[in-house]
Amino acid sequence: MKKILIANWKMNYGPIKAGAWVRAFRRERLPKDVDIAIAVPHISLAAARASLGRASIPALASQNSFWAEEGPFTGEIAPAMLVEFGVAYGLAGHSERRIHLGETDEMVAKKAVALQKAGISPVICVGENALQRKKGEANKVVRTQLQAALKDLVGDGRAPAIIAYEPVWAIGTGKACAPEDAKSMHALIRGILEKKFGKTADNIRIIYGGSVDARNVGEYLSTTGIDGALVGGASLDPRNFGLLCRAAVIA
Ligand code: PGA
Repeated sequence: MKKILIANWKMNYGPIKAGAWVRAFRRERLPKDVDIAIAVPHISLAAARASLGRASIPALASQNSFWAEEGPFTGEIAPAMLVEFGVAYGLAGHSERRIHLGETDEMVAKKAVALQKAGISPVICVGENALQRKKGEANKVVRTQLQAALKDLVGDGRAPAIIAYEPVWAIGTGKACAPEDAKSMHALIRGILEKKFGKTADNIRIIYGGSVDARNVGEYLSTTGIDGALVGGASLDPRNFGLLCRAAVIA
C-alpha cells in the first residue's frame, strides 16, 4: 500500500503565507513512492492552488467541511466547493474540532459521507484522550468513534476513507505514542474495517498522528500496520516538512 503523509497546518497561514509555503516546498526533493498532501485553511486553498501551478504534489486537503450540499448553513463549506480547488482529501473529526466545536460522532459520520459523495477521500480522525487511556478505555473509545463514523460509508472496492489514529494526549505535546502502542491500535482499527468492508478494507490506509517529526517518522512508517502520518507542528516549516518526507521513506 502506498504510504501517505498529510501536513495539517491547523489555523496557520492565510493566503500570503500559504502561497510562500507551497513555493518553498516545491523546491524540496521529494520521495516518489509516497503520497503527500497539505491540509490548509479554506481561505488559503486558492493561494495554495495558484502556487502549485501545474504541479500535483503536494495534493490539497481540507481541514473541515459540512455535510449538506448547499443551503442556509452560514459559515460552512460544502465538499463540492472544495472540489473546485482540486481538493483530494478532507479531514473529518479532528480532535480539536471535537473538543473546541463540539463535533460529535454523528456529525463526523455525516461529514465523511458527504466528502465521499463529492469524490474527496475522507480522513477520519479518531483517538482517545489521556484520561481515557489511563482508565484503560482507549480501545473502547476508538472503536466507538470509528464504528459511528463509518456507519454510512460505502466500500465498493476503492478505499472509502483513510483512518487517522491520533491519540489526543500525543497531539502537539511532543509525547508521541510509542510505535508499538500505535501498532496495536492500528491492528484493532484494521479488524473493525475488515468486518465492515470485507476485502475493500485492504485498500484503506491507517495513519498515525501526534507529535510526528523528521526524527521519528521513519520509525512509524516502518512499523507494520502504519500506512502514513498526519503531521501538525512539524509541517509548518516547508523545509522541515520536506526533510520529514525524505526521512519517512529511508527507514
Ligand atoms: P502534531 O499534530 O503533529 O502537532 O502533534 C498532529 C495533528 O493534530 O494532526
